[in-house]
Amino acid sequence: MTKYIIHGGKPLHGEVEISGAKNAAVAILPATLLVDGVCRIENVPQISDVSLLLSILKDLGAEIRTVDRTTLDIDCSKVRKQHVAYDLARQIRASYYLVGSLLGRFGKAEVPMPGGCDLGTRPIDQHEKGFSAMGAEVQVQNGYILANSRSNRLEGAHIYLDVVSVGATMNIMIAAVLADGMTIIENAAKEPHIVDLANFLNSMGANIMGAGTDIIKIRGVKSLSGGFYSIIPDQIEAGTYMAAVSAAGGEVRIKNIIPKHLDCITAKLVEMGVEITEEGDSLLVKRDGPLTKTNVKTLPYPGFPTDMQPQIAAVLCLAQGTSILTEGVWDNRYRYADEFRRMGANIQVDGKIAVIEGVSKLTGAPVSACDLRAGAGMIIAGLAASGITEIDQVYHIERGYEDIVTKLNHLGADIRVETTADDDWHVSAG
Ligand code: EPU
Repeated sequence: MTKYIIHGGKPLHGEVEISGAKNAAVAILPATLLVDGVCRIENVPQISDVSLLLSILKDLGAEIRTVDRTTLDIDCSKVRKQHVAYDLARQIRASYYLVGSLLGRFGKAEVPMPGGCDLGTRPIDQHEKGFSAMGAEVQVQNGYILANSRSNRLEGAHIYLDVVSVGATMNIMIAAVLADGMTIIENAAKEPHIVDLANFLNSMGANIMGAGTDIIKIRGVKSLSGGFYSIIPDQIEAGTYMAAVSAAGGEVRIKNIIPKHLDCITAKLVEMGVEITEEGDSLLVKRDGPLTKTNVKTLPYPGFPTDMQPQIAAVLCLAQGTSILTEGVWDNRYRYADEFRRMGANIQVDGKIAVIEGVSKLTGAPVSACDLRAGAGMIIAGLAASGITEIDQVYHIERGYEDIVTKLNHLGADIRVETTADDDWHVSAG
């Protein structure tokens, strides 16, 4: 069991470098299965979800070489297996991208059902609908998703998504790249990582148009060949540091970001009294005055990201007045509210709405990181709180944040990592 022990109440100062985007990396790495040749991928975040995916790719027969800390050469040309081992894949949510990748390459995939239900129900019916429209038979048997196309290649299809789904949009896009003919995805998700996946695939020879809009057209090509690609910076990691400075106070330059991706987060923090200045590929975030209430509703991009909901909640807990937070994507993303209350927060949850009455201070307490972003929210609350906050179940946090303790300690935080010998296995929330 690993815990983070935070001595809170210290403002943050200095500069922090943002890593590559988790939710882009966890799709791009499986998508290298489509490529006949070496993919050099730069800006790969060093997080445990990525390590797991690399282990799965190796197990399938991929050759992976570390070029430097954040650069990998991945060669999947010798992969012949279409069966993904249960023990590895059940630990990660994004293993569903292996279905699109293996189906697109071989016309067949056997992938364990993705684990975890930490955010409420997480169906994958839209992924299945897309694969079926492209000529695959999809069924779930003994904990596995079994997908088989009538021939080795899928057929292009016109697919209207019933819900705006990041995962279904990316998975169908991956599967369609080597299909016969044109695939059209309507009501597609528009997150920055969708554009990033399309850019990666196009740079390897795919023909994808419209990523970033709600209609994506993919004209199937015969094959993809290797090349270079650099993953975009992580919008949510950057937003998490913005929220941390806003809650703890101080002045921090957040570097290696795409400011446009952060507009929705910047707008809310500015409404609350935080000063944010754009400086090319950095943002300078400063907070020394009081925070004021605001209302936030999470929505698919370009709306306020659901993956920033617990982090903004931590800031709202300290804002003068009553704020209303509405979750617009997941059924159950407030499991952290009880933990915040232990720290003195005044937060009431009713279904998808949380009412937060700001308090003048939070106080440290023992809390549990119930999922990845909830854990990030607890770190933020702990940094702002007086006294000691002890966070357990931090394996959730380490799935999505590279070196978060080191990065925060460089900014003047006081976080100690304490490890004891208990079993630490769990399923990813991402
Ligand atoms: N949905 C369906 N059917 C489907 C797919 C989704 O009904 O087939 C519903 C979901 O139940 C949800 C909504 O559609 O209500 C959106 O789900 P989406 O498919 O967009 O989510 P996801 O692809 O499973 C990814 C991220 C999540 C992030 C969401 C929304 C990864 C690995 N996960 O999940 O990230 O919250 O998009 O942006 O990319 C995180 O990083 O902490 C995390 C949870």
